[in-house]
Order: sequence, then C-alpha cells, then structure tokens
Amino acid sequence: MLSLYHVISFCVMLLSIISSAHSGNTDTEEDIDWSKTKIWGPGLRADFCVPARYFFIQLIKFNGDNYTQSAGERPFEVGLSQAGGQRVRVYMRVLDKKDGMYLITFRIYETLRDLQITITKDDKQLGDSPFSLTGPVLQDQCYCPQPSLQQWYDTMSCPQSYTQIESDLSIFRQVDLEETAAETIQRFNISTAHSLARYRVIGNKIYRKTYGQHVGFKMFSDAILLSLTRKVVLPDIELFVNLGDWPLERGSVSNNPVPIFSWCGSDSSRDISLDIFHVAGKSPAPWTEKEEKGFWRGRDSRQERLDLVVMSRENPDDLDAKMTRMFFFKHDQEKYGDLYKYQINIDGTVAAYRFPYLLAGDAVVFKQESEYYEFFYKELEPFVHYIPFKHDLSDLREKIQWAKENDDKEYSKRLKSPPPQPDETWELVEQPKSIDCHCDRLAHPAESKSAKKSKKMKKDEL
Ligand SMILES: *[C@@H]1O[C@H](CO)[C@@H](O)[C@H](O)[C@H]1NC(C)=O
Ligand SMILES: *[C@@H]1O[C@H](CO)[C@@H](O)[C@H](O)[C@H]1NC(C)=O
Repeated sequence: MLSLYHVISFCVMLLSIISSAHSGNTDTEEDIDWSKTKIWGPGLRADFCVPARYFFIQLIKFNGDNYTQSAGERPFEVGLSQAGGQRVRVYMRVLDKKDGMYLITFRIYETLRDLQITITKDDKQLGDSPFSLTGPVLQDQCYCPQPSLQQWYDTMSCPQSYTQIESDLSIFRQVDLEETAAETIQRFNISTAHSLARYRVIGNKIYRKTYGQHVGFKMFSDAILLSLTRKVVLPDIELFVNLGDWPLERGSVSNNPVPIFSWCGSDSSRDISLDIFHVAGKSPAPWTEKEEKGFWRGRDSRQERLDLVVMSRENPDDLDAKMTRMFFFKHDQEKYGDLYKYQINIDGTVAAYRFPYLLAGDAVVFKQESEYYEFFYKELEPFVHYIPFKHDLSDLREKIQWAKENDDKEYSKRLKSPPPQPDETWELVEQPKSIDCHCDRLAHPAESKSAKKSKKMKKDEL
C-alpha cells in the first residue's frame, strides 16, 4: 500500500508556503525593482496536471532583498492565452500573501495545445515571462492516465518519502485481503456507529461497497481516487476508507490490526491518515497591523475549549476566544481571524482540521499538544512551523507572552495477493462525463489544426 499511499498523498507542496518570519518594516513600493521579480512554480509546466494549477511571484527590492509587504491586490498583469493570441477559458485568482509574495492559481476548462503565460508591469515582462507551456495542457477532467507511477511521481515532483505515512504503514508488512476484509466487516459493519467504504481498483477502474448508514463522505474518497486514476494508472489494490470522524482501529500493534485509511490518525489508533487538505491562505491584514492576541472561534466540543474561553475573559489583552454555533468556522475566520497575530489550534472532537488553514495563513499558529494527528504532522517542527502548548492550556499564556517578546524572529507492495475481480455486488464509481481529450493524439504536435477541428466537430455532433 505504500505506493498507493504515496499517490493518495498527492504532494504536500502547498504546505510549503507556510508563513515564515515577519518583521515590521517601512519599505514602500518605490523600493521594488520590478526587473528582479522572481516567478516560479509547477503551474508553469504543461505536464503538471492538477485541478487548480499554481505558481508564485516574489517581489524583490533594489538591494536584492525580498520585498516583504503587499504591493496591492494585483500590482502586475497576468495574461493567459494560446500561441496565436487566442483567448483561453480559464478561471484565475491572484492571492496577495501580504508579504511580498503572490500565489497565482488557475483552472482551465478545455485542453490546450499550448498555453502562454505572461506576467507584466506597465507592459514590461517580469521575471522569465513570457512562459510557454507546450501542450498538451490537459484539463483536469481528462482521462489520460500515465502508465508509469514512478514517472508520474517525478512529473509531480513528489517528495521521496512522507514520514507520517511510512510510520503509519510500518506495522502492516503483509496484508491478506480476504482476512482483512472479513475481519474489518465483522468488527466495523455496525450501521449506526461506523461508516466505511471499501474500494477495489482493478485495471484503473474503481469499484466500491459501503457499510453503515451515513456514507455521504464517500464523495471525497471517490473524488480523490477518480482524480488519481485520470492522471496515473494505479496498481490493482483494495482498501477500506473510514468515512467517519474518529479513527477506528484501536487494536494494539501485536494484535494484528487491520489497515484502515482515515481522515486523521491518533497515537492510540492504527488508522492510516489520509491527505485531504491542500491549502493556500490569504491574509487580508499586514502583520504590523495585526493585534498581538491569540484568536480562537469554535464549538464547545471539548473541555479545554471551554477553559480557553474562560481564560480569554480573564485575560482580554492576550486572548480573544469565543464559542460559535457555526459548524464551520470559515466565514468567521475570514472576518476576524486575520486581524490577529496568533491563531490558536485546539482539538475538537478529533484533530482540529483547521490546522492546515491556519498554517497557510500568515499568523503564528499555537497548537495544543494532542494525540491526534494528520498525515503531514511529522513534517512539521515545533517552534518552526508552530508553537506548541500543553494539552491542559497551562502554559498557553506564557507562550503567547514569549511570542510577543520575540516578534522579530522568525500500499500495493504489501498485499499478499492481488485483489480479485469485483462481482455485481460492487458499484462501479464512474468518472464524470468523459471529456474526450484525445490524450495520445495531443501528444503529437505534428497533427494539423484542421484535423483537430474536424475531430472537434465530430465530438459536437455526437
Ligand atoms: C525570499 O523569498 C523567497 C521566495 O518567497 C524565499 O524562498 C527566500 O528564502 C526569501 N529570502 C530571504 C532572504 O528571506
Ligand atoms: C452489514 O450490516 C448490515 C446492517 O446490519 C447488513 O444488512 C449487511 O448484510 C452487513 N454486511 C455484511 C457484508 O456483513
């Protein structure tokens, strides 16, 4: 399952835009040497096919240092066109990180033979612009899987290893699918308590069975697997995905636990944590204008959360923590959260899934020490990516104080036998209405435009 896991993990790339050090400064836009602008990222390559392609722009000062403030929402022009100057159907966003860096994301709605990306300021090209992506530049919904898994890892610049995944997988040396399935179903097919999806990938087609009453979240695991099989041919595999909140397998390592993939893992369970977040944040308020307070909003799902609110009432200078009834915090976070320097992450029912959102923002993240974790936690270092505080909150105020004072620092190989062909009790998970992308043909640029046109007409006629 190791290789599958690699695949499912996509890449943790966007997490690398975790914000780093901030310091107050007084640079102005006149300090920007536009000719030194740096532009880089995988979205500038044709073969990097993801739902939203992305790249970065860093502004540089005349003295060569990074410019570390906002230069406005969109101080440059971004143009996307085809070689002949034809317009492309595209949805693009420019995210001002407010620290001199901009994240450009774009989604294309048709497969392109080529794509020109230009970044200009007052009609002058910036960085290595213009960028020519020679096609095919595939639309995300194209079913054009690469035959080689390794080649795909390379194309996607996936890291060689993921510490958390390897650690989660290390206890499953050999998996007997029949035994595993029988035991998993016997133990966890309890309709009101658990919800599970069992997937079989055979010949790059996805088959699924579900167990339990509330299996709506299969839409996420379906989408992940469908997206992957459009891009790469997966090895034949079978796996169980836990669609509920809580990790399931609490058996000890010596007791032959069953491998179950979950949205999060914990130190007291054996579930393998799945990657569900790729997050890019925006930060509406510059660092220097933020309040030196710890910010938290959430539901009252845990004692420490109540404690935090009480602590906040008693120490309004350090903390702004309040309960909300909202299931999802997003709106509230956007409204208030970005106005504070310190963001507090505290467990809810399980791992607080907002953690990656917080990391992607430009505030310093305070994280409660916790037995729950997500797939990327082992890549994070305390005091580098976040500031840890004790589970019972006893040292939280002390840690906030410290931060105020230090403002200027900154699976398939493990299967014993391949999964058998699914019978009629399995549901085929279908790809979205196939956009026929002529993957093979597009790879041959020699094909003439008129040939393409006639093919397109044929498709329209169908
Ligand atoms: C300048 O910005 C780039 C890209 O954001 C970053 O990789 C680099 O470390 C920064 N340099 C300094 C000296 O902070
Ligand atoms: C799972 O549980 C449901 C409801 O109790 C039952 O109808 C179904 O037959 C069970 N499935 C298996 C494979 O045991």
